[in-house]
Formats: sequence, structure tokens, C-alpha cells
Amino acid sequence: MRNKSIWLLEEGDEYPRLKGDVLVDVAIAGGGIAGLTAAYMLKKAGLKVAVVEANKIAEGVSGHTTGKITSQHDLIYNKLSRKFDIDTAKLYARANQDAIERIEQIINQEKIECNFLRQDAYIYTCIKNKKKDIEQEAKAALNMGIKSELTKETGLPFEVELALRFKNQAMFHPVKYFRSLAKKINGDGSFIFEKSRVTKVDNALLKTNEGNITANNVIIATHFPIMNTPGLYFAKMYQHRSYLVALEGARALDGMYISYEKDGKSFRMFDKYLLVCGADHKTGKEGGISHYDMLEEYAKLTFPGANIFTEWSSQDCLSPDIIPYIGRYSSKTPKIYVATGFAKWGMTGGTVAGIILSDMILERENEFEEIFSPQRKKTIPMLGNIAVNMSEVTGQYASGLLKRTPVCTHLKCKLTWNIDEKSWDCPCHGSRFNEHGSVIESPAVLNLKTQ
Ligand code: FES
Repeated sequence: MRNKSIWLLEEGDEYPRLKGDVLVDVAIAGGGIAGLTAAYMLKKAGLKVAVVEANKIAEGVSGHTTGKITSQHDLIYNKLSRKFDIDTAKLYARANQDAIERIEQIINQEKIECNFLRQDAYIYTCIKNKKKDIEQEAKAALNMGIKSELTKETGLPFEVELALRFKNQAMFHPVKYFRSLAKKINGDGSFIFEKSRVTKVDNALLKTNEGNITANNVIIATHFPIMNTPGLYFAKMYQHRSYLVALEGARALDGMYISYEKDGKSFRMFDKYLLVCGADHKTGKEGGISHYDMLEEYAKLTFPGANIFTEWSSQDCLSPDIIPYIGRYSSKTPKIYVATGFAKWGMTGGTVAGIILSDMILERENEFEEIFSPQRKKTIPMLGNIAVNMSEVTGQYASGLLKRTPVCTHLKCKLTWNIDEKSWDCPCHGSRFNEHGSVIESPAVLNLKTQ
């Protein structure tokens, strides 16, 4: 099977479309991990909430993840310690470690069956001259107080030069967890709405084609934020795609793995399946290459005899300094909040977002608020990516192809055809449209014109 996430093989509950007007304390656009976690925590605190999802709950990026719950985010701690300072790195580490505990706590409290399993997480390299980077990360991780160690012993079916192991991390079946949260959120004056795309945010009002939600506070958790101004998120984030294959018949693996190599692969088990992830590329680029074919070829070579059960892809938003944007959408919008830019670490990042945003709305102090703030003073400029994005726009106008090639409804970049997904993808900020022109991924909210 292609284009079918292993987490979405079973149908979830159905929720109604938003029709007419609804009044709640907090309106949340986006039914992925960030929106659902925030909604769950706010409802627990006694507020009325409404989550409005463009498609089906947990079937966006959150339903296409690897489901790893870890504070091991590539070699982030050495980077954060050098580019910011040790205190920032420590806060980032603790926020993400706390998220693992919080997920486990919710699972236990709510008795959620979602295959939650404690596992060690490894980042490995097979290249000798990259060992130094792993060693430096090991020092940084120890400085953060993370239980970790260097090792050459892994469960992988090939030799590694070096790996850094974070102990007692976790993995689960993400969609079972999200659907259980949605069930807890819906009811008693709180709502889940599906198939209702938010097309406009007007102060504390979320508008869809068939209804509106009025609230005291609004959270935009739509993967990529859908309001261009204020906030200008399109100028400070970019999107990447990656591919996953579930193999049947490969030798079982203990632990969760990511590679430090640029074209390296990541691994985890789910049930009897080995999940292999890789073949990353910037959204809207390399559209003529089949990344599924590339990953299949790798899988056949590395795990001979294993069969492909299913394959799917995912898309991630990245900020230039690798830290997500969680907090006020802009300094001019005190009642509108945002959660985005989790890179590939949405399970912990989305949970951190739910905790911070619910605390902010409930006017509770949160020690992590400042480092994740979208208005943070310390950051790394994104000049490289902005230059790339702008060249896409300039190239489009210069090419004179506007009438013949679909043009993105976000900021009018020329789209490229993705042969793997049969979709039109935007190289500027990563919006995607299906072959009929319907929006699959934000920031675009309007479908393509089909004349
Ligand atoms: Fe911004 Fe297409 S996503 S122009």
C-alpha cells in the first residue's frame, strides 16, 4: 500500500461539521497533537473549548509521524548551548523530558490503550569523522542532566562508528492516543468539529465556510500558521517532507534510532513491523523523483527478505533556530496563540505546546514560555531560506508560466507536481493541493481554481 499511514488503517470516530455559530472560552484551529493537548488541558481546567479540524482528527501530520516520544532531537543540545547558552539548552531539554512524563501520565490517568512503551533512543553515525560531533553532543547531553551514554553497541543490523543513547525515552501508537484525547474533549459544552477548514481568523473569531466560533482566546495549531499578518510565519519557517515504510519480516529491533548522516535513515518497531524513515527533501523540490522508490531500494538492500506492508509520507515545519514557535501569535494579538515549527519532533513539541498555551490562557506561570516565544529576542536569522523562497516567487513571475501552471493560493508561487503523492506542492512555504486542487497542507486555505 502506498500513501497509507500504518496508524490510520482503522477508521476513527466521526465528528460533525461546524455549522452556525458556536460560543466557547477557547477556539482551536487544528486537530493534531498541539491543538488536542491544549484542548484537553483547558477542558480539564474547567473551560469550554472547540477544536475545528479541516479534515479528520489526527489524520494530518500527527497521523503520519513515527510516533517517537523523545528529547533526542538530532544533535540539538550542543547547538543550543553554543548558539544560545547553556540555560536555554537546559530549559529546552527539560521541557521535552517533561513532555514524555506528561504523555505517560495522561495515558495512565485516562487509561488509554495506545501501545506506549519505554525505549532507549539512539543517534548514530557510520562515518568516522562525524564521531567528534556525537561525542560533543554526549557532553552537552550530560550537562543537561539527560541520562545518556556513548556506545557502539546498537540493535541495528549494521556496524556504526558511534551512537549516543538517551535512556528511558518512549514510543506509542500516536493516533490511538489522539483519538482518545478527542473523545475526552468532546461533550459537556466542548466540541470537536471535522471537515471544517478555518479560512479566516478575525480577532477572537474563527471563520469556516459554514460556521463561526467566537471565543475569548484562539489557538492556531494548523501545522503551518494560516494568518500571514501579523506574525509573518511564512518568512521564518520552511517545510520538509520525509517518507516511511513499514516492513514485515525484518529482524525485530530494540530501541529507536535516528541517523546523524544527511541521507541517513531512522528506525523503530511497531508490533511486528519495522518502520524505516528517510528520503527527506524540501517540500516542492525533487517532485520528479520517487522517494518511495528510493526508500524501498534501501529497505531491500538493508533488510533482505522483508516485505513492504505499507508506505506513507509526512511533512514538517522548521524554524531557523530549530526551536518551535509556541506562544502569542504576535505582540499585536494578545488573545491569539500559535503552536508550530516542531521540526520532526511533534510528539514532545506538540505536548510542550499544549502545556505552555494552556498555562498562558489560564494565566499560570510557565518557566518554558520565554524560550519558545515566537517573539523571542535571541534567534538565528533565516536569511538563507528567505532568499530561496523569494527566488521561487521571482522565478515564477519571470517565467511567465502563471496561466499554464497552477499557482499557490497562499502567496502565488508556482507549484510543482509530486509524482509520489499525485499532488501539487509549493516550494515557497510548503502548501500542498491534491490532484483536484483541494488544500492538503497549510498555510494555503483556499483550493486551486480548476478551469
Ligand atoms: Fe506560500 Fe505557496 S505556500 S506561496
